[in-house]
Amino acid sequence: MTDVAERFTTDGYCFPLEVLAPDAALALGDELLRIHADERVSTLGNKGQFNYTHVVSRAAADLIRHPTLLDAAESILGPDLLVWGSTLFTKAPHSESYVSWHQDLQYWGLDSDAEVAAWIALGPVTEASGCMRFVPGSHLGDPVAHIDTFDADNALTRGQEADVVIDPDDTVLVELEPGQASLHHGRLLHASGPNRTDGWRLGLTVNYIAPHMRQAVAATDFAVLVRGEDRFGHFEHVPAPEADLSDESLAWHRRILKAQNDAMYEGVEDAEGKVV
Ligand code: NI
Repeated sequence: MTDVAERFTTDGYCFPLEVLAPDAALALGDELLRIHADERVSTLGNKGQFNYTHVVSRAAADLIRHPTLLDAAESILGPDLLVWGSTLFTKAPHSESYVSWHQDLQYWGLDSDAEVAAWIALGPVTEASGCMRFVPGSHLGDPVAHIDTFDADNALTRGQEADVVIDPDDTVLVELEPGQASLHHGRLLHASGPNRTDGWRLGLTVNYIAPHMRQAVAATDFAVLVRGEDRFGHFEHVPAPEADLSDESLAWHRRILKAQNDAMYEGVEDAEGKVV
C-alpha cells in the first residue's frame, strides 16, 4: 500500500499533495470564476457553487486527469477510475458562507463508498479564509444521521448537518497553499467556516469513483472515464469539451444538473410544503 493509501485508509484523509504550481492554480481559479459568470452556464440547484466544471471548461477537464491526482486515486480505488463530479467551491471576501459538518456520500444516491474526493486549492486556504476541518477516523464508524436545515448561508444543497457534537480539539485544519490538494473519504466528517479575509477562498473538488458504484436514487447518472476501463456501464459517459462553453458542452451541463438536482432533492419538501 502506498503512503497516500495507508494514510487515507487509517485517517480518512491525506494532505498535502502537490498538484499545480501556485501561479497556475491562481490562474485556474480566475478562469473558472469567469466561466461560471457566463450567463449561458446553468446554475440549477447549486447555491452559488459551480458544479461539473469539467463538462464546460477545458482547463478543468485537464485537471481531473492530472497524473498526481489519478495516481493517488488509483492507489485507493484501483486502476479503473471515473470522475463523478467536480465543483468549484467559492467563498467571496468576507462571506458568511460556511459548510456544516457532513459526510459527502449521505446525499448523492451512490450505493457504496468507493469514492475519493480531491480538493485542490486555487488560492490560499487558511483557517481565516474558511479552510476545511476533518475529524480523523470518522469515516470508519456507521453513517451519521443528517438533518436538513436549509440555512441560507450553508453552502450545502439542503443545508444538511450531521447530527453529532464535535469537539474542536478532535479536528484537523486543512490549510493549503495554492496548487496543493487534500484527499478525503466520502464518509469522513468535515466542515468549513466563513471567509474573514479580503481575498477569495477558492477550491475545486473532484470526485473519483470506482466504476462498480451505482446511482440508486436518480434515474440516470453521469461520469467521465479518466483511467483504465469501465467494465460495468452504470454511468453515461460525458465527453470532454472541445472548447470552453461549446454548445454541446453546455447542453451536457444542463442535462447533468437537472438529473443531479432531481436526485439531491429526492423526497424533500421546501418551506411552502411543495416537493422541490
Ligand atoms: Ni463535503
